[in-house]
Amino acid sequence: MRVLGIESSCDETGVAIYCTERGLLCNLLKSQTATHAPYGGVVPELASRDHIRFALPMIQEALTLTQLEPQDLDGLAYTKGPGLIGGLLVGASVVRSLSYAWGKPAIGVHHMEAHLLAVFLENNPPPLPFVALLVSGGHTLLVAVEALGVYRILGQSVDDAAGEAFDKTAKLLGLPQPGGPQIAALAKHGNPKRFHFPRPMLHSPSLNFSFSGLKTHAREVIAAHPLTPENTADIAIAFEMAVVETIAHKCLKALQETGFRTLVMAGGVSANIRLRETLSRLGEKQGLGIFYPALKLCTDNGAMIAVTGALRMPCEKQDPFSLAPKPRWSLESLSPIIA
Ligand code: KG4
Ligand code: ZN
Repeated sequence: MRVLGIESSCDETGVAIYCTERGLLCNLLKSQTATHAPYGGVVPELASRDHIRFALPMIQEALTLTQLEPQDLDGLAYTKGPGLIGGLLVGASVVRSLSYAWGKPAIGVHHMEAHLLAVFLENNPPPLPFVALLVSGGHTLLVAVEALGVYRILGQSVDDAAGEAFDKTAKLLGLPQPGGPQIAALAKHGNPKRFHFPRPMLHSPSLNFSFSGLKTHAREVIAAHPLTPENTADIAIAFEMAVVETIAHKCLKALQETGFRTLVMAGGVSANIRLRETLSRLGEKQGLGIFYPALKLCTDNGAMIAVTGALRMPCEKQDPFSLAPKPRWSLESLSPIIA
């Protein structure tokens, strides 16, 4: 089965073709970083316009690269939500129109489920059940995954998402967006002993997170220190270590509470090397399986939408004339994926 997937929920346009027999056939990504850079954050209207400009040429390019005709596809998938309404509407309209014109089925998928399922594009997929840590620009979730499509939220951020905290702190440090990779790059040269940031909600019995206090702490430290390259790097590493240690602690707690032995990380922040290495080290020590997607499949991409479409298409009926984007959409409301 070959499925073309398109991601358009935020500021990346992704188009990929996934084949259930041969794996990922192509994975194209067009970032809008330059479009939004002058504004210091994603401007939803500009994001939608870029998705409109990029989507069809990228779909054409994907077909050319794979030497496939539309008739060789078995279906199309798009991000139905959660995300920015304009971008979601673009993806839904493009895919539903092509689906009608080509006579192929189409399916709208959940963006966070797609992040979670990106790990199934790897050669060594995780065994079920597992705990999923979903950390992106809009979400921080710990999820018990008993079976594919059966999700129970164990904990989530009560304020800023982890990626949002990275982005806001980067802004305070005068760094460009998205801030996560910028902070991670600077942190490599920082002195880990110079500043100490709080570890929010570390000792609370819940599995929830809170990151807004870290941003406030960063603001206070920055106000007291001129932003020299040395100070910036030292603040970056202190902030990164606080986020990583807090997340790692909650992940271990979630594994203990569920009794599961496997953790899957996904979403943009799971591209953070310190987070991957910290969790892998802890996993090795405690005999736990730690799984994450390849770096380029952690941040938004079309491949995760295509693979989710391929898994869900055989077991889900769709209304071919309904766009129905869902800017807000709970993971827990999804139906099981029946193989
Ligand atoms: O999943 P994603 O691409 O988009 C959303 O669905 O939100 O995640 C984007 C987020 C941004 O906040 C970005 O700063 C963060 O992921 N991010 C990182 C890293 N790479 C991306 N955060 C920390 N370290 C990284 N290496
Ligand atoms: Zn995402």
